[in-house]
Amino acid sequence: YRRLRVALLGAGAVGSQVAALLLKHGDELADRAGAALDLVGISVRDLDARRDVDLPRELLTTDPEPLLVGADIVIELMGGIEPARTSILQAIGAGADIVTANKALLATHGPELFEAADQVGASIYYEAAAAGAIPIIRPLRDSLAGDRVQRIMGIVNGTTNYILDRMDREGSDFADVLADAQALGYAESDPTADVEGYDAAQKAAILASLAFHTAVPLSAVHREGITRIDADMMDAARKAGYVIKLLAVCERLADAEVSPSGESISVRVYPALVPREHPLASVHGANNAVFVQAEAAGDLMFYGAGAGGVQTASAVLGDVVSAARRHIAGGVGVGESTRANLPVVPIGHVVTRY
Ligand code: NDP
Ligand code: HSE
Repeated sequence: YRRLRVALLGAGAVGSQVAALLLKHGDELADRAGAALDLVGISVRDLDARRDVDLPRELLTTDPEPLLVGADIVIELMGGIEPARTSILQAIGAGADIVTANKALLATHGPELFEAADQVGASIYYEAAAAGAIPIIRPLRDSLAGDRVQRIMGIVNGTTNYILDRMDREGSDFADVLADAQALGYAESDPTADVEGYDAAQKAAILASLAFHTAVPLSAVHREGITRIDADMMDAARKAGYVIKLLAVCERLADAEVSPSGESISVRVYPALVPREHPLASVHGANNAVFVQAEAAGDLMFYGAGAGGVQTASAVLGDVVSAARRHIAGGVGVGESTRANLPVVPIGHVVTRY
């Protein structure tokens, strides 16, 4: 086999599991990728931080520089905007393909990163950036590329679903359940991103951009979180035959006023009353579910773990195998980063339905 150098930035809930699986299943992944995947280093903030899994000490470093300039594939799992943005740009400049789960970064600086990748023929893979382990990026970008997606509706944040589910089923207190979600590795480092709907809005912007083949900016996404939901509201919803879920809805609207083409897009995240018999009402814990309605395909449903270190590591490693296959093919084939110059379709009126 040809050997590829793989660098990992971040060894937290997701990164530590990615490293452990890469080391454990390296031979098998090499067979699938057609290249040996050598984990050459893992950059972290604190060499002595407690980790979910034991990692070889000699791989850990607080100096990402040599990793960014010497790797074939760089996996970014630090989260946040900086230094993730600068590190990815540096790695792209040095000729690496990128794998990231960083929806905050992609939803705010995606066009800049994709443009940088396009310029040098690099690829950015981001299956883990929406809905954790669930394959949803590739289906929207590739499998449904010949169809016209009309609507996406679903639960795309595991932390808030975990919180709302326990409040509903156990009458638990919001703060206690949030602490549990953090301890289980579901929440963002600042959980405000989860409970105020920012994380779901970032994912909705990414999914809508892929589904509608346009650049949907985060600023165009209507966002409400779940911090105002209390035990009394959960109880009232239950008695009326509903459960409260944080939904993300992305849809095409017939909208002659906004667009000469007669179409616009609405993207919104908000807590909704979901009838108990609706499939989304049965999405428990940190699971996610995404319904896609397409003109020809009809209704499709994607379901599974929306958060969690090892579950998300599955999506990240799938991307690593894809990146390796493309890398050894000399970058032949369609890159993952062709979103930079997409046309912007008008954003329609926000329609919030409860
Ligand atoms: P964690 O906060 O658990 O881990 C972050 C890691 O990055 C830590 O190892 C930390 O180092 C390192 N790090 C952070 N900042 C720096 C820095 N400035 N320089 C060097 N290293 C740094 O995050 P997660 O693993 O939960 O999430 C990682 C990414 O994956 C995020 O983009 C997140 O949105 C995304 N994601 C997370 C999911 C989940 O369920 N957790 C699911 C899907 C996506 P140290 O350990 O030394 O502190
Ligand atoms: N904090 C995120 C969530 C991680 O709870 O859904 C997965 O993207």
